[in-house]
Amino acid sequence: MQDVLAYIDQNRSRFVEELAAWVRIPAISSDPRHKLDMVKNAEHLMAELRSLGAGKVELWPTPGHPAVFAEWKASADAPTLLVYGHHDVQPVDPLDEWVTPPFEPSIREGRMWGRGVVDDKGQVHIHVKAIEAFLKTRQALPINLKFIVEGEEEIGSSNLDELLRTKAKELEADFVCVSDTAMFGRGIPSLCVGLRGLVYLDVRVDGPKTDLHSGSFGGGVANPVNALAAMLAKLHDEDGLVSVPGFYDNVLELTSEEKAEILSLPFNEAEWLASTGSTAAVGEKGRSTLERVWARPTLDCCGIHGGFTGEGAKTIIPAFATAKVSSRLVPNQEPEEIQEKIARHLEKIAPEGVRVTVNYLHGGRPYLAPTSHPVFEVAKRAFSKAFGRPTIFMREGGSIPFVRTIADATGKPCLLMGFGQPDENAHAPNEWLDLENYHLGIKSAAHLYDELARLPSE
Ligand code: BES
Ligand code: MN
Ligand code: MN
Repeated sequence: MQDVLAYIDQNRSRFVEELAAWVRIPAISSDPRHKLDMVKNAEHLMAELRSLGAGKVELWPTPGHPAVFAEWKASADAPTLLVYGHHDVQPVDPLDEWVTPPFEPSIREGRMWGRGVVDDKGQVHIHVKAIEAFLKTRQALPINLKFIVEGEEEIGSSNLDELLRTKAKELEADFVCVSDTAMFGRGIPSLCVGLRGLVYLDVRVDGPKTDLHSGSFGGGVANPVNALAAMLAKLHDEDGLVSVPGFYDNVLELTSEEKAEILSLPFNEAEWLASTGSTAAVGEKGRSTLERVWARPTLDCCGIHGGFTGEGAKTIIPAFATAKVSSRLVPNQEPEEIQEKIARHLEKIAPEGVRVTVNYLHGGRPYLAPTSHPVFEVAKRAFSKAFGRPTIFMREGGSIPFVRTIADATGKPCLLMGFGQPDENAHAPNEWLDLENYHLGIKSAAHLYDELARLPSE
């Protein structure tokens, strides 16, 4: 691997500049004003992939934003790895909290700062550069490699299932690798072996046909804001458990080995808490913080709106109130089932005099990796070679809908080899990428391809 690793060292700063050029494109998938930027963003990636030579590079349109597909064939005997990532990014508000503008990547403290630098452009780019290192030094990859980079991950991947169905043949592989998670801590190579799923709901509570004078009508009719607040307040009991009937029906408990493994990790709860700025770690009673975040389901209100919120006072009984409600799921909860249970429960606990409407926005299923499969040892070895430290297994509380979908569709194991950091400010102002992780990430990916070449294909 000397040739490939030397190439990665020699081109270190150019790689960073090329990543920065891509980060400049404001690929916010949720904002219709950036629809053309999404295409430009995909084309930018395609141009970079094409410049590596050989291979096949395609734009895969969807009813929403396009995905990019690429493929390099090595030999019929070599295994095939499918690498997944996403090229869309989160919105940037509140803009005034950014130290430097989100789409003008800047480098400070050994980090690149900007929207999408780590979620997920930087991590996609890690694979682009690992591929480049092989193609430029050896004119070939050691394995067959396929690359799918979608443009709608941050908005729920709603067109992905259909894409996976129509392109099933093109996406066939022996293994899947996703780099879209964070490492457990600085310098600790970490394979993520579990992700939570998600259900995202829009809740609306309607009352009077229009805002009413609260003097003339207050005390006489139901107030939708009061009603919604009361409903949300009823969603948890005193022990922090979700009080939706049947919510925990299919929840898979951690085994005592898994609990012990989690407790053995070098988790500093005080530091973790300090990084959030919260004053207490709270949640379901009787479970450790990591267990709650990685392996227990949640129900949260992500936003609430209703009535008068402008400056000063306005005396009304508002006509309606809305809330965004999301639930993180764990194995073996199913989004459709949980969505139904939450919706029915909200309707049931709605006070008299209001009407409740629940709309399903999007969701994804949880993932648990089959860690006894030999490929996990291979991935650990590759990761450790680059970082010079033993690789640990961890889970994440976040969701990547593609992972479970592709795992179910193909029956193949998915390696979640992420290069982020827990405090990277993903989805928040001042998102950053550790440039050492970026560099060692490229080496990890290169080692992974190299190691997989020696594993017989299935
Ligand atoms: N990269 C994240 C997934 C993630 C989150 C990994 C936290 C590790 C820790 C991904 O881009 C993401 O934000 N996913 C969404 C999915 C949703 C929009 C369906 C999430 O988890 O909220
Ligand atoms: Mn991501
Ligand atoms: Mn994200």
